[in-house]
Amino acid sequence: MSKLSTITVHAPATVANMVCGFDVLGFAVNEPYDIMQLTLVNEPGITIHNKDNYNLPTDPDKNVAGAALQALMEELTIPVGFDLTITKQIKPGSGVGSSAASSAGAVAAANYLLGNIFSQEDLVRFAMNGEKLASGVKHADNIAPCIFGGVTLIRSIFPLDIISLTAPELFVTIVHPQIEVRTSDARSILKQQVLLKDAIRQWGNIAGLVAGLQQQDYDLIGRSLEDVLIEPVRSILIPGFDEVKQRSKTVGALGGGISGSGPSIFMLSKEKEIANSVASEMEAVYQSLHVDHHIYITTINTNGVRFLVP
Ligand code: HSE
Repeated sequence: MSKLSTITVHAPATVANMVCGFDVLGFAVNEPYDIMQLTLVNEPGITIHNKDNYNLPTDPDKNVAGAALQALMEELTIPVGFDLTITKQIKPGSGVGSSAASSAGAVAAANYLLGNIFSQEDLVRFAMNGEKLASGVKHADNIAPCIFGGVTLIRSIFPLDIISLTAPELFVTIVHPQIEVRTSDARSILKQQVLLKDAIRQWGNIAGLVAGLQQQDYDLIGRSLEDVLIEPVRSILIPGFDEVKQRSKTVGALGGGISGSGPSIFMLSKEKEIANSVASEMEAVYQSLHVDHHIYITTINTNGVRFLVP
């Protein structure tokens, strides 16, 4: 087997749902990100190596990056394979798109090595196979922002219809309480039917959030960061959730909520100082609850997967 070419990529964490947009909105952040090195080889097949302590499977059938690469390889007519080394910095199960980063990073790197033969939509389609393996369902609200960067609207996944939204400068504070919430569990507790009055409120908020982002109207963004469908059910899985939200708003956050399916909580702020104050409030809540936690203060990543060209 001979090595043909190699690329290293940084695949960013992502915040899915953006409070009111369950499965349809998401954005990428600059911290944290996974580091992945992919080598194109002249022999078909996928080999995976992990350079972290998460003990994720190296069998490509059981690894989300492997599942995504397999989907891509099914559409190749040339006999090539991939050797992938993953250094995860996004903890699996944290709610900031860990599986999406692995899946999206792998196929974006593969496409780079193959001379960009696939579109970004194709890459989302391939990477959703990783999400299916991780949570049992194909959803693109982490994958799409990871690949496209910025804030994305997934109007439909079958067929794929992804819209990149412009957004004003926003600071993002994320707290990851070190408890495990599996996406499949967080999805299984959701009600399958909603009341019309709640649906009306929710789509009013989604439209308000999209308009607020496009018009750079921070007040409208803040007012629209409300979720009457999912958060009331899921937030009971996250200790300190209500307190974090309430204290963050008191110090000036525009709003926020559960990141993806949790347990991470994110808050958006207009200014860095406010984002720092939000972090202090998050710190105080989890210290008083004696829950180990990790906090990121970051910004929206507008580029998606980053290629470290030698
Ligand atoms: N939209 C998905 C969910 C994102 O909330 O279940 C999972 O990261």
